[in-house]
Amino acid sequence: MKRRVLIIGAGLAGCYLATQLQTSCDVIIITKGTRNDSDSMLAQGGIAAALATNDSPAQHAEDTLAAGQYHNSLAAVEQLVTTGPSLISQLIKQGMTFDHQANGQLDFGLEGAHRHHRILHANGDQTGAALTSFVQQQVQQIHWLTQTTVLELIVKEHQCCGVLVRHSNTQKTEILPADVVVLATGGLGNLYPYTTNDATVTGDGFALAQRAQVAITDMAYVQFHPTLLMINHHCDGLITEAIRGAGAHLVDENNHRIMATFPQQDLAPRDVVARQLTAWQAQGHQLFLDISPVSNFEQRFIGVTANLDRRQIPFRQTQRIPVQPGAHFMMGGIRTDLNGQTSLPGLFAIGEVACNGVHGANRLASNSLLDCLVSAAKASQTIKDGPNLLQPLNLTALALQPQRSGPITQVSVPSLTELQKRAWQQLGIVRQPAALHDFLNWLAPYQLSKLCPAQLTDSQLTVVNLGLCAQLIAKSALAEPTNLGANYLVRES
Ligand code: SIN
Repeated sequence: MKRRVLIIGAGLAGCYLATQLQTSCDVIIITKGTRNDSDSMLAQGGIAAALATNDSPAQHAEDTLAAGQYHNSLAAVEQLVTTGPSLISQLIKQGMTFDHQANGQLDFGLEGAHRHHRILHANGDQTGAALTSFVQQQVQQIHWLTQTTVLELIVKEHQCCGVLVRHSNTQKTEILPADVVVLATGGLGNLYPYTTNDATVTGDGFALAQRAQVAITDMAYVQFHPTLLMINHHCDGLITEAIRGAGAHLVDENNHRIMATFPQQDLAPRDVVARQLTAWQAQGHQLFLDISPVSNFEQRFIGVTANLDRRQIPFRQTQRIPVQPGAHFMMGGIRTDLNGQTSLPGLFAIGEVACNGVHGANRLASNSLLDCLVSAAKASQTIKDGPNLLQPLNLTALALQPQRSGPITQVSVPSLTELQKRAWQQLGIVRQPAALHDFLNWLAPYQLSKLCPAQLTDSQLTVVNLGLCAQLIAKSALAEPTNLGANYLVRES
């Protein structure tokens, strides 16, 4: 009998894993949205890989480590930079098209903290959509369960052996047994009011893992991207860092260059840029991206141009885009080894929800799509080679456990708006110990970890999952002895 693998999440990591397993395993991808709802689909700048002739995996590793403040796992970084290029070459052989220069050579873009132009891109700035769609087209022999929320991991005798799901259309719950469950659920950007993340990215994988007491690490390290498009205090999408790589500058309302005094200027690591922009904003300044130095802006940044036009931003006249930092990526997550195995046998985690230490304290730009491919490829080998674990499950007994599938009852959860507002103020780019304690004290009476997912509505579950993530972030931030990368505390003297 084929091993049954449940992959939770429809982004690049989950879909690429499905391509690797589809002939040898019985694969189901479960997603609470549609096939198109993921952060991978929204990724703009590209995918980093040492494929240019003047580049090498060793140099890519050095840049990854420096941006990550050497908090990274060396072995994970080596795995990323050495395995990544061959996986990309394979995809190109299979027909994936990245952008080329007029001379036929691959066109490598530049982003923050990279010493070389090494970012492959597709359709200008629509790399994530092009790559994820391409990989999804290769996924032909699997079953999709869309609009399906995973409520809990089923754990029996210290082994993950399935999931409890609820189908959105019918609100029916169901237990799906499996030999292997893989969390590929992405991050938690929607904990914050300003985020680049897709609306479906709500920390679900971290919350599932926490409820099953799976080891989670480094949650203090939330990356805030420096440039979200801001209109009337509302975020309307990402403005890719590749635009700064092409020469744009961050300026204020007086055209003063905000990053001019930093050694890497506008291409400093993201934590550095986001903090400087926050300090500038706190002094009452507005923030803009000055695109006047960028040649062929509209041809190179097709997706951003379309978004700016949709929002009627007069960038052609002003040569400026209004921006602000916002939540982008979680460097921490479910602790895994280099093969994606978590502390719970039978449970794997890959992509953003996982933490094998590859990103350290601050992820290097465009390393996330690469990590999706590499972490999925490594996990696929282990899953294929591993023992067949499927035990006959006593489904009736599990389904009847009242705490797992009772009726939805009256429970008190915070409002999403209040949670996001507090998260921004107290778990944001610059943190203070007192504010972190205040946040934890505010959330504690809700006793989120005691609430039963099956007894919550979908919107309550979203708030509860994000609240659980927020507690992990606050506790982790307080536990870190020093400021590093994205975890920056102003400590009282
Ligand atoms: C961007 O295009 O600026 C985002 C890319 C990334 O997060 O790596």
